[in-house]
Amino acid sequence: MKKKIVVLSGAGMSADSGLRTFRDADGLWEGHDVMEVASPQGFRSNPELVLGFYNQRRRQLLKAQPNAGHKALAALEDFYEVHIVTQNVDDLHERAGSSEVLHLHGELFKVRSTAPPYPVYEWKKDLVLGNLCAQGHQLRPHIVWFGEEVPLLPEAASITSLADILIVIGTSLQVYPAASLLYYARHGTTVYFIDPKPTIDQLPNYELHLIAKKASEGVPLLVSELLTSSQ
Ligand code: OAD
Repeated sequence: MKKKIVVLSGAGMSADSGLRTFRDADGLWEGHDVMEVASPQGFRSNPELVLGFYNQRRRQLLKAQPNAGHKALAALEDFYEVHIVTQNVDDLHERAGSSEVLHLHGELFKVRSTAPPYPVYEWKKDLVLGNLCAQGHQLRPHIVWFGEEVPLLPEAASITSLADILIVIGTSLQVYPAASLLYYARHGTTVYFIDPKPTIDQLPNYELHLIAKKASEGVPLLVSELLTSSQ
């Protein structure tokens, strides 16, 4: 039976594809306070600003390409059962060829209604005020904003609890509940943490291996090691 690898990825995973991380630049995200553009209050007080912000992110993502890290993870599937749980709203894991990807914080190429039953639609163009769902309600980005529930958390936790090997990539582990996910792995699990500035240097109850490199370098290195040891 194939060993199970669970990958927990954050913004650093896509940094080498040209997508900015959230906390690397003075707490600003592309020049904005995160609460201004990623909270229900922000959307209520200035919906145009928020929609415009995500329109820019969507346009940027249309031009971005998976990096060597995304591609290496897809190659792992030849010898391991791989589940990716990502905080990222981009689709670069999928475009690189990974088949099991759970988006904890939503997806940039989807929008949903602001009214029940909150139907979700595929969406690759700009979203503006006046774009409505089939029932006539305004659409919003399909993103989990600060203060909102994380509906896929239980599923992500149960996937993580089955990991034989855990790989954590490019996350500051500052945002909860996402940051708590790694503790669902069984005690004794081998955990690789790939990040040029890892925020932890020990992990009691786990066998932690730090790889202080960028995702596009560190992930291919680890993957080639794991592919060699699987044979
Ligand atoms: P952060 O911006 O908080 O952290 C990014 C991490 O990536 C940091 O630890 C960096 O050291 C690391 N990093 C930077 N460049 C890298 C590279 N080339 N390769 C690998 N790692 C690199 O991003 P997240 O932890 O993902 O939520 O943030 C979590 C959530 O906060 C996001 O999902 C988002 C945000 O608000 C929503 O939008 C709902």
